[in-house]
Amino acid sequence: MTSTAPRELRGRRQLHDASWDTIRDLFALDRSFTHLNTGTVGALPYEVLDVNDRVTREWTGGLMNVYPPGMYTGHRETLARAFGVDQDEMVICHNATEGVARVINGLDLRAGDEVLTTTHECYSVLSNFNLVRNRHGITLKTITPPTGWDVRAEEIVELFEREITPRTKVLAFSGITLFTGTMMPIRALCELAQRHGLTTVVDGALLPGMLDCDFRAFGADFISCSGSKFQCGPLGTGILYIRNKVFPEHNPLPLPTIWPVVSTWYPMAGEPPPRTTTSVESCNIGDYFQSAGSASIARGAALAAAAELWDEIGRARIERRIFDLADHARAALVEAFGRDNIYSPGGDDRLRSPLIAFHPFRRPEDAWNVKKFMAFVDRLEHEHRIWIRWTEFDVPGSTHQHYAARVCTHLFNDHDEIDRAVSIMRDLGREMS
Ligand SMILES: Cc1ncc(COP(=O)(O)O)c(C=O)c1O
Repeated sequence: MTSTAPRELRGRRQLHDASWDTIRDLFALDRSFTHLNTGTVGALPYEVLDVNDRVTREWTGGLMNVYPPGMYTGHRETLARAFGVDQDEMVICHNATEGVARVINGLDLRAGDEVLTTTHECYSVLSNFNLVRNRHGITLKTITPPTGWDVRAEEIVELFEREITPRTKVLAFSGITLFTGTMMPIRALCELAQRHGLTTVVDGALLPGMLDCDFRAFGADFISCSGSKFQCGPLGTGILYIRNKVFPEHNPLPLPTIWPVVSTWYPMAGEPPPRTTTSVESCNIGDYFQSAGSASIARGAALAAAAELWDEIGRARIERRIFDLADHARAALVEAFGRDNIYSPGGDDRLRSPLIAFHPFRRPEDAWNVKKFMAFVDRLEHEHRIWIRWTEFDVPGSTHQHYAARVCTHLFNDHDEIDRAVSIMRDLGREMS
């Protein structure tokens, strides 16, 4: 596909102060469509499409040795810089699911060890821990996070703390939960884990491209992210951070053992070099994960191009934009449906994210009527060209799983389309009630 981005943007030196309307034109996004579902997949910038296409053509049919570029050394550097870490701690993989599966299956867990996580994790996390439970006899403990406007960060941390036992080895949680869009108190949970000597696995699928964040400062051991959601890289890209040095101000614990279960770098005989105990790397753990046979050279390059575009626009500016639009959407949803019908936290700004889950119907019992939610989402798409999704999750004290409608805002949305979408959702919710 060739670029159809406006010519004046191709030089894009001015992106750090370009208007949001101008920036929207960078995306291969039909203006007649309202995309409020970046939590599932973002929209591709034209130049990311171009890089994907160009790099594919460059090597297809050539005699080039495809293995060295598949290590993505430079692209990993670009991504590492964007998230405050180093190339040896960064892996470009296929998606958040693959990254977290390789981590979970590579943890040094034995029968009797406990993993503490939540029922609000993605299937990619829960199914892999269940596999490890069936295979190695670990115990998997899940807590159900509270939902609703008034949830506070301390409640969540206390809930985890109450369930830690002498057998707990791992704390696993999302950076932002996919079902209710709760921004988990990542640093506080990592500090809790550190106090108890635990390894932390963060499902960060939704973080890159949304938050201007420093992975190391979270204090986690592993953060597995999607490249195709808020970061707007191609589908089939993921960003995996593996802590590979000890910075006591961030996480003083020794590096946890991790077995690179999919690797063509792990030695065929003998041991890899020992991991460091200091802030200087002793082995490039990223290479052990990155080297896994032939790879899509184009997708790695395109993901790095998306990251560079974000750096040019400015990650702090993008974060402010996304959260400003989310606050606008949250206020409009409260007005349309009432605060009691919002599942996502709203009162504690540490927990607010741009993903907002809500109940759009009059009758509370419709919260377990999946057919209604499917029809709601379907009608928004087909009758109004508004793209959202529904989610399902446990609610403390409820015998039913609840379904909710979920919207999320990204830099390419604007206030007017959010107002229009919420007003259509309000009318449709009433009509279907
Ligand atoms: C929190 C969370 N984790 C994991 C995933 C899976 O992401 P991927 O498709 O990149 O594997 C999703 C997808 O929506 C998600 O929202």
